[in-house]
Amino acid sequence: MSLINKVAYITGGSKGIGYAIAEKLLKLGMRVAISGRNIASLESSANSLGKSDNVFCITSDVGLLVDEQKAVQQIIDKWGQVDVVVANAGVGYFAPVDELTEEDWLKMINTNLSGAFYTLKSSVDALKKSKGYYITIASLAGANFFEKGSGYNATKFGLVGFTQAAMLDLRKYDIKVSTIMPGSVSTGFANNTPSEKDAWKIQPEDIGELVVDLLKMNPRTLPSKIEVRPKRPDLK
Ligand SMILES: NC(=O)c1ccc[n+]([C@@H]2O[C@H](COP(=O)([O-])OP(=O)(O)OC[C@H]3O[C@@H](n4cnc5c(N)ncnc54)[C@H](OP(=O)(O)O)[C@@H]3O)[C@@H](O)[C@H]2O)c1
Repeated sequence: MSLINKVAYITGGSKGIGYAIAEKLLKLGMRVAISGRNIASLESSANSLGKSDNVFCITSDVGLLVDEQKAVQQIIDKWGQVDVVVANAGVGYFAPVDELTEEDWLKMINTNLSGAFYTLKSSVDALKKSKGYYITIASLAGANFFEKGSGYNATKFGLVGFTQAAMLDLRKYDIKVSTIMPGSVSTGFANNTPSEKDAWKIQPEDIGELVVDLLKMNPRTLPSKIEVRPKRPDLK
């Protein structure tokens, strides 16, 4: 299947993993909409991505259904279709459960879990038309729990379950659904500053490459849940 001119929507595409996925899809000749809450950050990312007619920035908080509905409508108004949706936007706040604040809990639930549902809910009719692909960026934290991770673990375990059940519901429409579960990736996530100390981690472009591989996979085959980890975590 040629991916040229296919339309992708990547939530949280202004930074990190989402940005790297956008970069890879643009190189394939796709049209790519990226969203985030901060317009300055989106515009600066669009500039780095080449500011071509194939890049479209949308301000949206994935934790608000109405924002996601508007975002998808803007893509359809501009390009008439949506072929690939990557629910990537996510936040992480790490603290012992007795210290985790309600505010941080709700930010994670709203963004990482409800956000993925709102993004799919807003795009599923378009994906039925295009026989498209819906991908979530979960985490190895969706299969392995750890200290100070109660809130983040809850959202990512939930996201993996949500995505797998959605896969069963949507495959009869010829929509592919996958969840990617990365280990540590070198991004600015949770106040990290990428630097040489991150050399052992997965690099964001590696996840971009993985998304390309999924899109190029034969239509009959669906890798529905993909765990991906640094090969040498002992080098940290
Ligand atoms: N980095 C890792 O080690 C790692 C490992 C496994 C999984 N992940 C997952 O990968 C995804 C991307 O993380 P990343 O490492 O690329 O983080 P990042 O560099 O911090 O980027 C996060 C992106 O999400 C956007 N975002 C955050 N909250 C949002 C909201 N409510 N609505 C819309 N956009 C929102 C941010 O833009 P604004 O702030 O402008 O909204 C930004 O574009 C997350 O789901 C994360 O949980 C990360």
